[in-house]
Parts: sequence; structure tokens; C-alpha cells
Amino acid sequence: MQMIRLVFGIIVLLAIFRFPAIESRSHHGLAKAGIQFSALNCRKHSAVLTDFGGVGDGKTSNTKAFKNAISKLSQMANDGGAQLVVPPGKWLTGSFNLTSHFTLFIQKGATILASQDESEWPVVSSLPSYGKGRDGTGNGRFNALISGSNLTDVVITGNNGTINGQGQYWWDKFKKKEFKVTRPYLIELLFSENIQISNITLIDSPSWNIHPVYCKNVIVKSITILAPVTVPNTDGINPDSCTNTLIEDCYIVSGDDCIAVKSGWDQYGIKFGMPTQHLSIRRLTCISPKSAGVALGSEMSGGIKDVRIEDVTLLNTESSIRIKTAAGRGGCVEDIFARRITMKTMKYVFWMSGNYDQHPDEGYDPKALPVVTNINFRDMTAENVTQSARLDGIDKDPFTGICISNVTIALTEKPKKLQWNCTNVAGVTSRVTPEPCSLLPESKASGKAADCKFPSDLIPIESVVLKKCSV
Ligand SMILES: *[C@@H]1O[C@H](CO)[C@@H](O)[C@H](O)[C@H]1NC(C)=O
Ligand SMILES: *[C@@H]1O[C@H](CO)[C@@H](O)[C@H](O)[C@H]1NC(C)=O
Ligand SMILES: *[C@@H]1O[C@H](CO)[C@@H](O)[C@H](O)[C@H]1NC(C)=O
Ligand SMILES: *[C@@H]1O[C@H](CO)[C@@H](O)[C@H](O)[C@H]1NC(C)=O
Ligand SMILES: *[C@@H]1O[C@H](CO)[C@@H](O)[C@H](O)[C@H]1NC(C)=O
Ligand SMILES: *[C@@H]1O[C@H](CO)[C@@H](O)[C@H](O)[C@H]1NC(C)=O
Ligand SMILES: *[C@@H]1O[C@H](CO)[C@@H](O)[C@H](O)[C@H]1NC(C)=O
Repeated sequence: MQMIRLVFGIIVLLAIFRFPAIESRSHHGLAKAGIQFSALNCRKHSAVLTDFGGVGDGKTSNTKAFKNAISKLSQMANDGGAQLVVPPGKWLTGSFNLTSHFTLFIQKGATILASQDESEWPVVSSLPSYGKGRDGTGNGRFNALISGSNLTDVVITGNNGTINGQGQYWWDKFKKKEFKVTRPYLIELLFSENIQISNITLIDSPSWNIHPVYCKNVIVKSITILAPVTVPNTDGINPDSCTNTLIEDCYIVSGDDCIAVKSGWDQYGIKFGMPTQHLSIRRLTCISPKSAGVALGSEMSGGIKDVRIEDVTLLNTESSIRIKTAAGRGGCVEDIFARRITMKTMKYVFWMSGNYDQHPDEGYDPKALPVVTNINFRDMTAENVTQSARLDGIDKDPFTGICISNVTIALTEKPKKLQWNCTNVAGVTSRVTPEPCSLLPESKASGKAADCKFPSDLIPIESVVLKKCSV
């Protein structure tokens, strides 16, 4: 017996020394459960950033603490996975990468502060589907604050903890055209699947906020994104060459598009050939006076297909759903469905631009024309609108299959005289006021048939049931 106790004691001691910080749920059960949250998967192991030397004073760099924590916890990927808790405090850090079967939990009262020291941000190569950096002419880009490539089963969540990008440094330097490489994003996952980003607040990103690229099965849910409406390129959520994505219950105030759906840029995006498809966006509230609620493009060269948008509120926003493309993009924007959009104070309700002529370099093919077709908008109201629609297709490449039904637009005190300005577009309308342009005549069909389509099925990610987990 004593021998067994001794051996057991040694094993316990070894275990304690080996993983001093990491609690295993199988030992403690759920008795100590604190914060409850919903996630794709719960984890067997849990650790706190302070176990790895983290200092939450807002001044000490925690880059090493995050790296050490994630490197250690990555060893548990095949043993039930691990979660890293960021407790209340201000945790300054540079860029770090995540691992698979992993949860980053940012507690209420915790703020991850993005470093303004460029040496804390490794420079990585440009995205293959873009060829070039998006800022200026240089190649390369700063790795995102929280990043990861080729991962599976990653959850970034909290009970409304914060990530603060401290963007002022980056916005100022960008405006002075002093960057040779592209500004960092806050969260970026590449070539990954089974991703959840939920219940956190993102403030003042240097550039885009959330960028899943080349990903599958992505949920972005209950996120608050705040940036001054005057600062450059602070897009909210940018699903880019992703399949099966759900974005719901988000509140976004931004200096650029609240959601920008993308799939690569001109010849690089055409060659890479990865579309964004099967995307559902619902219950979004957006304020973006200089940009769109949901933009499709401008980089769409891998194609954008099967996008469903519903129950959206737009306040003081430039346009609702904006298609941005140009000759040279190739690709397509097709099978787009939107319904139940409520708008107040809009420059345009509908805006399609076939002349968004920003190209990565001179190597683009001006004969690569985008296909824009089967665009369905229904059941919308807007108040205080300057111009109902500005629809510019491309010469010899009209945007076709446009359907708009049951839309009531009330105008501002000083509206544009020409309410529907349409060129190179084709389609039908039904029960739309003010009266649409002649290129979008009243549908001849009667009754229900005159309603534009909206799919009655779900995309697979909409049926995923989250598990109840705890910290
Ligand atoms: C993150 O991973 C990328 C490769 O995907 C690498 O280039 C970069 O250096 C890593 N960043 C850090 C902070 O380790
Ligand atoms: C991730 O996967 C892609 C596509 O399979 C591959 O091209 C890339 O090199 C991988 N990246 C890393 C960091 O492993
Ligand atoms: C996440 O947000 C949703 C919606 O606001 C809320 O119902 C839920 O309680 C939140 N979860 C946590 C852990 O705070
Ligand atoms: C989360 O925090 C942000 C910023 O403080 C706040 O605006 C938002 O209302 C909070 N969301 C929830 C669900 O508590
Ligand atoms: C209506 O829109 C104009 C801009 O066109 C704006 O200045 C004004 O404040 C808005 N009015 C209301 C009541 O929101
Ligand atoms: C028209 O759209 C409004 C929302 O703007 C909706 O409440 C109403 O049910 C729709 N009418 C029909 C006949 O679908
Ligand atoms: C209508 O749109 C065309 C093409 O964008 C533009 O050239 C023209 O100035 C617009 N007309 C009015 C009256 O806004």
C-alpha cells in the first residue's frame, strides 16, 4: 500500500511540476464552474495568462506570455484541447498566433491592447489571392494581432472582453503614406476551419477588424466593433474566399464597410480561384456614414455566390448592400438575397459600381469582366434618403437579373432630382417607391410571384448547435 501511495504521490508531483498552471477539468469536474458560455467545443484543460508571466498593467509587453501560453497549450490539442483565459486587466501585446482545438477567452474587464511598436509585429508575405499588399504599393503585411494558419476548431470568445487596436498610430502614419507594408488587422485566420469568434468588443483597429480568409465553417456572433467613422479602412468583418459562414447579432460602427465580402484581387484572385460562398448575415446593426452596410467586393475575383442577408438595421450609412467591381476583376457576384432591411439617413439605398478601378498592378487583364447576376432585394423601408439608387453596370457587361420588391423609400428634405440613375443594368421591380428607372420595369407577374426570391433552406453552419462550456 505504502509503495502504491509513494508511486502515486510521485506521479501527482510530476504532473504538478510538468503543468503547474493547467487545470484539468477531469479532476475538478464542473463544481467550480464560473462563467458559462456557448462554443463549438469545450476544452479539457484551462490556464490563465498570468500563469505564463502575463502582467496586466497596460505597459509591460505580454507578447512572450501569449506565445509561451499558446505553445504550451498546443501540446494538449490531442488531449481534449485547452483554453487560455485573459483575466481583467490591460494586456499590452504584439502579434501572436493561435493553435488548434483552442479557446481564447477574454473576460469582462480584460482588454488586449495592441502594441504600437512595429518590432512587435512580424511582416508576412502578401495574400496569394491579392498578390500585393492592400495599402500602397509595397509587398508584405504586418501579421494580424491574433492570427493563425491551417488550424481547426478555434474559439475566440469572452463575456464581452475587449481588444483595443490603438489604431491612432497606424491611421496617422497611413495618412502620411509612410507605410511600405500593409497595416495589421485585429483577428485573421487563414486556411482554417471550424472557427467561432463571439462575445467580444473590438475597438480602434489599425485597419480591418475580423478577416477569415480561405476558411470553412465560420461563426461570427454577438460582436461589437467600434471605430471612429472618419478613419481609413476599418472594415468590420471581411469574409474572404470562405465557404459556409454565419455572421449574426453584431453591432458595428466604422469608418469603412461594416461587412465587406471578398474573394481576391484581379489576376491574382482569378488564378487563386477560391470563392466566398454560402454566407448568411443576419441581425446586423451598422453605422457607417462613409461606406456600406454590406459590400460585395471590391475584390471579388474568385467569385461571390449564395449570400443571404436579413434583419439588418442601417443608421446614417452611405448605402445598404453595395456591389463594387470593375473590368479586370473577372469573377462573379451572383445569387445574392436580401430582405427585411430597415434604414434611416442614407445617401443611397441601392448602389452598384462597375467602375471601382483600383488594380494591384499593371498586370491585370482589362478583358476579364465580372459577371453580376441574380441579385434579389425585398421587404425594405428607408427614411431620409438622398438618392434611391445609383446602379452603374459595365459597358457591354450589364448587371442582370436584378429583382427589387416591396421597398418603400422616403426622401430627405433635399433629395437628388434623379432618384433612380441606372446604366447597363437589367431586371424587374414590384411595389417599389419612388418609381424605379425604365431599365427595371414593374414585373408583369401578379401576386406572390412578384416577390423577389429568398431561399427557404439553411446553409449548413446555421444548423450547428453550440455546446455549454464554462471558465
Ligand atoms: C505566425 O505565423 C506566420 C505563418 O503563418 C509566421 O510567419 C509568423 O511569424 C508567426 N507570428 C508569430 C508572432 O509567431
Ligand atoms: C497552409 O495551407 C496552405 C494550403 O494548403 C499552404 O499553401 C500553406 O503553406 C500552409 N501554411 C502554413 C503556415 O502551414
Ligand atoms: C453572448 O452574447 C449573447 C447575445 O448578446 C448573450 O445572450 C450571451 O449571454 C453572451 N455570452 C456571454 C458569455 O456573455
Ligand atoms: C460590450 O461592451 C461594449 C463596449 O463597452 C458595449 O458598447 C456593449 O454594449 C457591450 N455589449 C454587451 C452585450 O454587454
Ligand atoms: C436626414 O439626413 C440629413 C443628411 O441628408 C441629415 O443631415 C439629417 O440630420 C437627417 N435627419 C434626421 C431626422 O435624421
Ligand atoms: C413588405 O415589407 C415589410 C418590411 O419592410 C414587411 O413588414 C411586409 O410584410 C412586406 N409585405 C409583404 C406583402 O411581403
Ligand atoms: C447618372 O449616372 C451616370 C453614370 O454614373 C453619371 O455619369 C451621371 O452624372 C448621373 N446623373 C445624375 C443626374 O446624377
